[in-house]
Formats: sequence, structure tokens, C-alpha cells
Amino acid sequence: MQTELDTLSEVARVPGESTDRRSPIQPPRSTPPIHLSQAAIRTSAPSITNLMRMALENPGIVSLAAGFVDQQSLPLEVASRAVGTLMADPVEGRRALQYGTTIGHPGLRTRLIERLERAEGVSAGSYREAIERTVVTTGSAQLIYLVCEALLDPGDIVLVESPTYFVFLGPVETRGGRAVRVPIDEGGLRIDALDQAFAKLQAEGQLDRVKFVYTIPEHANPTGISLATDRRKPLVELVRRWSGVAGRRIFLLEDAAYQGLSYGRREPGSLWALDPEGETVILARTFSKTLSPGVKIGYGILPKGLLEPILRLKGNHDFGSANFNQQLLEHALASGDYDRHVEHLRDLYGRKRDLFLEALGEALSGYGDRVRWTRPRGGLFVWMTLPEGVDSGFEGAFFANCLKHGVLYVPGEYAFAPEPGPVPRNHLRLTFGVPSEAELVEGTRRLAAALESSLSP
Ligand SMILES: Cc1ncc(COP(=O)(O)O)c(C=O)c1O
Repeated sequence: MQTELDTLSEVARVPGESTDRRSPIQPPRSTPPIHLSQAAIRTSAPSITNLMRMALENPGIVSLAAGFVDQQSLPLEVASRAVGTLMADPVEGRRALQYGTTIGHPGLRTRLIERLERAEGVSAGSYREAIERTVVTTGSAQLIYLVCEALLDPGDIVLVESPTYFVFLGPVETRGGRAVRVPIDEGGLRIDALDQAFAKLQAEGQLDRVKFVYTIPEHANPTGISLATDRRKPLVELVRRWSGVAGRRIFLLEDAAYQGLSYGRREPGSLWALDPEGETVILARTFSKTLSPGVKIGYGILPKGLLEPILRLKGNHDFGSANFNQQLLEHALASGDYDRHVEHLRDLYGRKRDLFLEALGEALSGYGDRVRWTRPRGGLFVWMTLPEGVDSGFEGAFFANCLKHGVLYVPGEYAFAPEPGPVPRNHLRLTFGVPSEAELVEGTRRLAAALESSLSP
């Protein structure tokens, strides 16, 4: 059998030379080492790999950790109707099965902007110009990655909420960027603290390294907290003001992954709508939580100067997200099925949220202020704070107790950017999205039992 090495030897043979001379290229004695890129070397394994392994190894465990969506809620009928309509028309069906464009399907992008106009309560056509700045991506994760790729060189700075979405810290690390924490409170990102963070970096001569601020204004992952309405405009204005001081653009990346999943009150408008010049806010949205992560379609609306660089980078990634999935989504939006499904999800998750908060209240009220947790108005997460000194990390006694009692959570330490100073270790991220109602109750009981073994009320 001809091997790759045989082929190499043949290539190395000088034409006309006798074949009995040894080729200058010899098979290596041992397998040579791989020389990875600096980006690959910088990139650590995702923190949750460990959790997934533990969940698989312990089948009886209740996972209050996984950031997936409710399995039973996944919209089989909506998807099959959308695929059926798409395939019923041979021209359209074949178009969907063909490559699309890097920026994404025009019909979908138009529809996304029209929906945004309705959600923001502005007249039809107000945002028409933004259609050409709307890029469809493979989930919002890709948009977020592309923003990091387009903006961050080693040593560049991103200001992030403390705590933040831990997956976001991955691309920052890959790019060699520095994620710097800014405190939040029950109203979300603290505008005064952000101002101070900018001022401190200016005093340190680092302001020109700040590329963007990353925020999750709706029902944040991991806290469930939303940005207070009266902080929204000041936030956009503050970023714009510091951009002026720096003399170079500082962006505000608005990750609206949980927009639409509000249980009760109406959501305030997006930060993007508060930036009419379209120069500061990058809006990242996704249909993973409100339709299906398996479809994995998100989108971004980009400031003008960022559009072309990001399209060039995306061209290198994939020259366009799955065309079929984009058209499936467009059909689900057009038929009204998507909106009906989101209504259903709000009911379902709202009920689970209520049940979970009630169970936590019953099981943990004995600890008074020593154990606290957020009461989210939407999204999928509750953030719990244990007394200082309790280490919620994988190596700590509390995590071991939870494993013993058969319950999993995400250790809060992963959600803190490394700077400044030591990372708090007494928090947990809990989700009510994936577990069934019975599992939520049982998981809470187990969590309380583990706490009891670690603390006394
Ligand atoms: C805050 C936040 N942003 C972005 C994402 C990425 O989601 P996707 O890439 O599926 O759109 C997630 C997923 O959990 C998330 O929680």
C-alpha cells in the first residue's frame, strides 16, 4: 500500500536519478511535536467540560448547572411545519439547500429589523438602513467571537460585568485580551463604577487599550439581573463620552440573549435603540433560547465601520451561517409560530421560576441573610451567594457535599474576569431552565442538605 511517506519520497526524488540512491527526506524516528499557535496555547479548556463529565458519570444527579433549554419545550411541530413549507416549493427548497451569502439571507434580515421596529415601538421603516448592517451568525456566540477577533489584540481591554457570562471570557483569553470587572448591583451594571473604571485606566495610561464594554442588559447570565431602565441611556452616553476622551472608538456590546424571556412585566427597549447614530452599540441577539439552540441562528447589528471587517473575518470562518436554518427561522417568524412558541415558553419558564424560588425560600430561609439569591424577572438563572469563606469551587468541601447529595451547580468563580484582584469564590449559578418541576424541588432539597452539611443555620 502506498503511504504518505512513500509519496513524500517520490516527490523528493530528482527526475532522471537512479532510484537506488536514498531520498534526502527520511521518515522521522519519532513523531515530531506540534507547534501550536499562541492563540491556541492561550485558550484553556471550557470550565464546564468538567461539569458535563460529572453529570454523565452520575446519572442520578439533578443538574441545576446546565445552561441548556427545557428539553420538552423544544418546538418539534413549529420546526417540522417550517421545514414542510420550505420544502413544498422546489425553487425555494433548493435555494435553502444551497450556500447563502456571508451576511445572511436578505428576507430574514429584513424581517429581523421589522420585528425590532415593532418591539421598540417606532414607525415602520425607521430602522430600514440597519438591514445592511445586520449580519446573521451561527448563534450569538459567533458574533461575540467575531467582535473579539475584530477588536482585540494582546493586551487590549474589555470592561465586563462582575459577574459575567463565563463563556465570553474564552474568546477574550484566546485573543490575549484583558477582561476587567466592573461591579453590578440589583439594578445591573453600576454606571458610577464603570465611570470609575474608565478613570482608573486613564490614570494608568491604559485608556487607549479599552476596546469595548460587554453587558447583558436582560436577565443576565449568570445573575438573572436586568439593567435598570434609568441606567440605560446614561450607559450608552458614558461609553460614548469615554470614547471621545480616548479619541478612538469604544463600543458597547449588548448581548441580548435572554431578551423576550420576561415573566410578567414588559421589557424596556434595547440599548441599541438608544444609539441612533449607530456608532457605539453592537447588538447581539439569538434564537437559541426562544426557539432552538440546535437551529443555532443569531444576528448582530454592527456600527458602520465594523461591518466590513467582521464580514471579512466571517468569510474566513464559514462564508455564511447555515442557509437552511436561516430560512427555517424565517418561516417560523412569518407564520406566527415563533411568537406563539415564545408565549408558551414565558408561561413554562415563569412557572418553573416561581416554583424554584418558592422551593429555595422554603428550604433555605433558616439561613437568613447568610445565604442570598436573586429573584429574576426572566431568563433562566438564579445567582446564589453563600457566606464569605465558603468555597464553592470544584475543589471545595461544599462542591463535594453537593456531589454526595446528588446535585450540581456552576461554581460562581468562573463568571468573574480575573482582574482586578482575587476572584470571589462563594457564589453559585443555578438554573431552572433544564430541570423538570419535580427535579427543581428535589434539587433544592439536595442543595439544602449539602448546605446543612457545610454550614449550620
Ligand atoms: C449570555 C449569553 N450570550 C450568548 C450565548 C450564546 O448562545 P448562542 O450562541 O446559542 O446564540 C449564551 C448561551 O448560553 C448566553 O447565555
